[in-house]
Amino acid sequence: MKRDFLSFKEYSKEELDSLLRRASELKEMQKKGMVHHPLQGKALAMIFEKSSTRTRVSFEVGMFQLGGHAIFMSPRETQIGRGEPVKDTARVLSRYVDGIMIRTFSQEMVEELARYATIPVINGLTDLLHPCQIMADLLTIIEKKGGYEGLKVAWIGDGNNMANSWIEAAGKLGFDLTLACPKGYTPDPEILGDAHKIATGKIRLTSDPMDAARDADVINTDVWASMGQEVEKEQREKAFKGYQVNKELMKVAKKDASVLHCLPAHRGEEITEDVIEGPNSAVWDQAENRLHVQKAIMEKLMGGKK
Ligand code: CP
Ligand code: NVA
Repeated sequence: MKRDFLSFKEYSKEELDSLLRRASELKEMQKKGMVHHPLQGKALAMIFEKSSTRTRVSFEVGMFQLGGHAIFMSPRETQIGRGEPVKDTARVLSRYVDGIMIRTFSQEMVEELARYATIPVINGLTDLLHPCQIMADLLTIIEKKGGYEGLKVAWIGDGNNMANSWIEAAGKLGFDLTLACPKGYTPDPEILGDAHKIATGKIRLTSDPMDAARDADVINTDVWASMGQEVEKEQREKAFKGYQVNKELMKVAKKDASVLHCLPAHRGEEITEDVIEGPNSAVWDQAENRLHVQKAIMEKLMGGKK
């Protein structure tokens, strides 16, 4: 049976840990210049209905390093943008390629694609979730802190796709997560409710950034207006005033706290220049780790026989 990677829901803690361990191994192998081609002769279709720098390049390079090939598909140059049904695209692509990575708006659309595809589908970001990014963030934390167990993670800002995936991860893996979000911009209540049911650590919502950041080992933020929310920009700038990762906030966190941002960052809005460029910032390692975790995911999902 094929497996997809659409959210953390369908993965156990053991499976996520094993993917993270494999990502570390693949990273080391790549640094040593070892050739590893488990996906030789295989291809990945990459559907992008939203912009991307990291996701596109890390998947394409990852596929190349694993011995396979990646195909970039944008709605403008394909029939997807002219209204070909998702279920048709799913079945046709399944006849050509060995996996699909998709970045789009609706999570339901990705789930429909996965239902009709006979090959693995990987979520490269929806309005609801961004699981590949959180895998990279977890690998970064493991590298910086030796593991995620017992850590206090803070989320400052929008209760968006990143926040939702962090909540799913905290529920599954058991670290403490406090999210500071303004009223009206809190995370998905169903995701929060599901995570509370299985969590062994604390998952807490507050409206006070200082409360979330106090004694935190990891401080995490993201843009105030995500892709697709550009028209809300002004209204959001007002709502998110004060939800900024800056020197003042860093003072209440642990001295060696790691600062994460999935990027792209808006300096002067959700994060200040001195913090993102400062000694606590782990953002470049975090961006690099997209490559390694996605290679582990593609190797696991696409490495077998068709
Ligand atoms: N963090 C992230 O997904 O970046 P891109 O939008 O550049 O892919
Ligand atoms: N929340 C952001 C993440 C970008 C990688 C967005 O959806 O635009």
